[in-house]
Amino acid sequence: MAGWRDIYNGRICTAGEAVKGIKSGDTVAVGHACAEPRALTRAMSARYKELEDVKVFHRWGIGESLYVEPEMEAHFRHLSCFAGPKTRQAINEGRADFIPRYISQIPELFTQGQIPIDVALITVTPPDEHGFCSLGISVDYTMRAARSAQTVIAQVNANMPRTHGDTFLHVRDIDCFVLQNDPLFEIPRPAIGDVEKTMGGYIADLVEDGATLQMGIGAIPDAVLTFLTEKRNLGIHTEMFSDGVIELVESGVIDCSKKTLHPYKMVCAFVMGTRQLFKWVDDNPFVEMHPEEYVNNPLVIKENDNMISINSALQVDLLGQVAADSLGTVQFSGVGGQVDFIRGAKMSRGGKSIIALPSTAAKGTISRIVPMLTPGTAVTTTRNEVDYIVTEYGVAKLSGKSNRERFRELISIAHPDFRKDLAKDSVFSS
Ligand code: COA
Repeated sequence: MAGWRDIYNGRICTAGEAVKGIKSGDTVAVGHACAEPRALTRAMSARYKELEDVKVFHRWGIGESLYVEPEMEAHFRHLSCFAGPKTRQAINEGRADFIPRYISQIPELFTQGQIPIDVALITVTPPDEHGFCSLGISVDYTMRAARSAQTVIAQVNANMPRTHGDTFLHVRDIDCFVLQNDPLFEIPRPAIGDVEKTMGGYIADLVEDGATLQMGIGAIPDAVLTFLTEKRNLGIHTEMFSDGVIELVESGVIDCSKKTLHPYKMVCAFVMGTRQLFKWVDDNPFVEMHPEEYVNNPLVIKENDNMISINSALQVDLLGQVAADSLGTVQFSGVGGQVDFIRGAKMSRGGKSIIALPSTAAKGTISRIVPMLTPGTAVTTTRNEVDYIVTEYGVAKLSGKSNRERFRELISIAHPDFRKDLAKDSVFSS
């Protein structure tokens, strides 16, 4: 049997040669977010005139997402569970398809036959001395897509950090290697304004020493982190994290010493941020990465005592129904890990879940707390599962409260300019 070095050298090819393996009618899975293998997605997209009806599963295209360009419509059909800045328009114009799905249940789409993957396009590190390549910053659904695909094409990128955990594929598991050291896609740190800072302070008051945190996407989780500098022994079990955690780890606030699952390890499925973050996770044994069917499984999450989930929303109605991924009929993002983590936190001993949102949108002209969700909006988190809602006007604890009590709590944290109208419009106003 050939040694791994011979196999590796024998399978090296150009991006153009590698994507020739994609045929009309295939389903292609693309590595996630900052780990998009741009040499491969570019080469695949360049072939569009030769291909028809290729389905491209790519959960969050923050890179180029060329396959959703209008001229590619008959050639590529994008499938996703999360709309992003590059793909939102195509989804909302009907040129791409949105699949509602909890993140914990995405990998089983591939393994249980609903979306069988013909070709996986992934980014990996160069092989180590044992012939293992790391998936680096994105294990998420990418590991399961690669494990279940008929053909695996990897862009070998020396800029991809080598991460620890269930992140490794052997060169024998990969069919083609395209060597190209592109810079990874980056997401800058979000701007934190006064509203986010005020909410960050309220949320920090809900976080006790020794808690394990999940943080969603956006400015609010970053703002919270800046208020946690006086806490002790915090842990992390989260779908993703960004640059904001680095300072808290370096200062010893996050040490994971009280975690009841994977103590002394930060657990995540992907990271997303700047090159500083990518450098920090490189060969860092404190960060342990696992696929999402594990990290986001509520039954796994609940094994962390004092689990606190922190997520955001677009709109909340007076019953406490949370809209975080669509507004009216417009698909804005996706459920992400929000509900997985709310469920896990609910079952965790001492756990709590927090939805934090600014009280208004559109420069203060629209209240995000509303009597009824905009018609057409999909409920992301139901009123049965919601726990704390936080705005810059305070904290509403909804779990266990009646509809009438929720109405009062939510109006008390709405922007003062809208409180009178909210009270007037509600069925509980009498
Ligand atoms: N009415 C009208 N416009 C609204 C609105 C409302 N109720 N709520 C938000 N908007 C607008 C904002 O003004 C903003 O517009 P702008 O870009 O022109 O400024 C835009 O919609 C985005 O809102 P914002 O609150 O800034 O979004 P965000 O980047 O902080 O993300 C979510 C918030 C809810 C979209 C995001 O957290 C998400 O996708 N959540 C679902 C998934 C999830 O929770 N995952 C967690 C684990 S990964």
